[in-house]
Amino acid sequence: MDILVLESPEEAGAAAAAVVLKSVLDKPDAVLGFATGSSPLPLYDALAESGGDLAGVRGFALDEYVGLAPDDPRSYAAVINSEVTRRLGLRPDAVRVPDVSVPDLEASAQEYEQAIRDAGGVDLQILGIGHNGHLAFNEPGAAFDSRTRVEVLTERTRRANARFFDSPDEVPTLCLTQGIGTILQARHLLLIAHGADKAEIVARALQGPVTPECPASALQLHSRVTVVLDRAAAAGLSR
Ligand code: GLP
Repeated sequence: MDILVLESPEEAGAAAAAVVLKSVLDKPDAVLGFATGSSPLPLYDALAESGGDLAGVRGFALDEYVGLAPDDPRSYAAVINSEVTRRLGLRPDAVRVPDVSVPDLEASAQEYEQAIRDAGGVDLQILGIGHNGHLAFNEPGAAFDSRTRVEVLTERTRRANARFFDSPDEVPTLCLTQGIGTILQARHLLLIAHGADKAEIVARALQGPVTPECPASALQLHSRVTVVLDRAAAAGLSR
C-alpha cells in the first residue's frame, strides 16, 4: 500500500489526479470507477484543470440512492454527469450509474455486475471513506465478498449526507451499491480522504484490524492500493 500525505486537499487532489492520468496514459480506454461525495472533488478539479485527454475513458459509479428521480440534482447520476462526464470531457454515455428506475432492483444489481464484467473489470477505482468506515454505501457489517445490491443506509450516513438535502428527512433510506467484493476486484484502488474528521477512521481502516465492522479495512487485503491524504486526515496514522 502506498500512502501519500500532502499539505492540503488541493495538493492531495493534484497527486490523485497524477495517478489517474498515469493510468489513462497507459491505457487510453481505461475503465475508471468514480466515487461521489466531497472527497474526490479536488481530484476532479485537478483533472479538469490538467487538460488531460479522458475522451476514451469508460466508467462505473459506485452507488446510487433509491427513490430520487434520475434528473434530481441530488442523485449520483446527476452528480456524475456534472462533476465527471461533462466536466472531464467524457463521452455522454461513458459512465454507468446503478439503474434505480426499474421495479426489480435486484435484477438491476445483477445487470450492473455483468456490465462491469463485460467491460473487462475496473482498472482504477476512486474511493472516498465514510466516517464509520463505509466504502461506497457498504455500511459496517457488510461482507467482504458482497456484490452490488440494495442496502439500507445507517442513520449516521444519512445525517452526514443531509448537507446535500434541504432537510435530513429527505435523505433516501435505501441505495444500490457496489459490494466490497466488487470493489476489491478492481485492479488498482485509489482512496482519497481529507480533513481532521477523517483522521480516526483512516487510521482504523489502514492500520487497524481487518474486520467487516470497518468496511474500508478490506483495502488491506488488496495488493495494489494508493492512498492520498491531506495532513489532517493522516494525523492518526502511526507511521
Ligand atoms: C458517501 C458516498 C461514498 C463516499 C462517502 C464519503 O455517502 N456514498 O461513496 O465515499 O460517503 O463521503 P464524503 O467524501 O463526502 O465524506
